[in-house]
Amino acid sequence: MMESVHVTASRDYDVHIGSGLLDTCGAQITAVTASRRCALVTDSAVAPLYASRVEASLRHAGIEACTYVFPAGEQNKNLATYGDILAFLAEHRLTRSDFVVALGGGVTGDMAGFAAATYQRGIDYIQMPTTFLAASDSSVGGKTAVDLPAGKNLVGAFWPPRLVVCDCDTFQTLPEDTFADGVAETLKHGLIADAAFFDFLMRQPIREHLSEVVRRNVEIKAAVVAEDEYESGKRKLLNFGHTLGHAIEKCSAYAVPHGHAVAIGMVLATRAAERLGYSPRGTLETVLAGNRRYGLPMECPYAAQELYDAATGDKKRRGGKIDVVVLEEIGRAKTIPLDLDGLRVFVEAAL
Ligand SMILES: NC(=O)c1ccc[n+]([C@@H]2O[C@H](COP(=O)([O-])OP(=O)(O)OC[C@H]3O[C@@H](n4cnc5c(N)ncnc54)[C@H](O)[C@@H]3O)[C@@H](O)[C@H]2O)c1
Ligand SMILES: [Zn+2]
Repeated sequence: MMESVHVTASRDYDVHIGSGLLDTCGAQITAVTASRRCALVTDSAVAPLYASRVEASLRHAGIEACTYVFPAGEQNKNLATYGDILAFLAEHRLTRSDFVVALGGGVTGDMAGFAAATYQRGIDYIQMPTTFLAASDSSVGGKTAVDLPAGKNLVGAFWPPRLVVCDCDTFQTLPEDTFADGVAETLKHGLIADAAFFDFLMRQPIREHLSEVVRRNVEIKAAVVAEDEYESGKRKLLNFGHTLGHAIEKCSAYAVPHGHAVAIGMVLATRAAERLGYSPRGTLETVLAGNRRYGLPMECPYAAQELYDAATGDKKRRGGKIDVVVLEEIGRAKTIPLDLDGLRVFVEAAL
């Protein structure tokens, strides 16, 4: 059982989505690379669940793999772990023609992808997402990064994967909250790009249609990336809910997970947009209904001043513009560049 989406980018790749793919990934990988050596990078929560099945499938396909396991968690998506991964690749003498397999959530994919992007000036990597968020969002589009103490994803590269293999069976072991993070990005895709998909999510339980929902998420993201891989225009629409979402993550010292923060961010942006006349009346009620249906948060625990400070950061000194994304209707979004005064008005209207 497998469906595939083709992504057109600076280098094209396929996304395979389905059930049981952990056990067949070796064969899919040999179809896209001639190399028979790789490093499997995964985290300490995913390794005991799934690494041996991937290793077995690779071995069966004639691929030799060495496995690197780092401690799970966003706090380890940093330069130190990234450096350890690079050292591991060098120690195992991976060459320019070998590749990396990133098995895990967005943290693993972003960091192993960045290691692949920079090791010997760039080697291939395969994304094997095991969270609903990574499958539906981060494993597609070629953005790789690690965090700095000053903020999230501050060092990184655009580096498309060679292939994405998504086994939706792996979501069965996700904690409920981690699954919900992916739901937030899924609702986002419907809200910005596909009203019929949003309706579907409101009528059907996502958990009963996982492959189909991941496929639609990937199609929506792939269409945006095909048009604007390096985020000079249209790709910014994927940041709906993210300007204030990132501010919430920052205010919470990253205790509020990304998807939950985005869920609140979409509510805040839509409340402001409705009050300021960018979105038609009733839009907020639809966004709230999506969050309510899937148990996502709707209230912001921070005051306007805190959010504003977190959203502006060092831009205050540079007098920069900040983009916010608003819904023109359900299924259609646009970007509004705000100066700092405009952002203050927007944040105040959001609460
Ligand atoms: N590159 C992009 O375009 C992009 C887009 C969105 C988010 N991101 C990044 O993605 C990260 C968030 O991704 P995430 O939510 O997947 O986080 P994550 O990788 O930390 O995974 C969440 C938790 O679930 C565990 N886990 C993963 N798969 C599991 C499974 N199948 N069963 C049980 N536990 C499992 C992990 O070990 C971790 O503890 C953030 O760092 C964010 O910046 C990147
Ligand atoms: Zn996001």
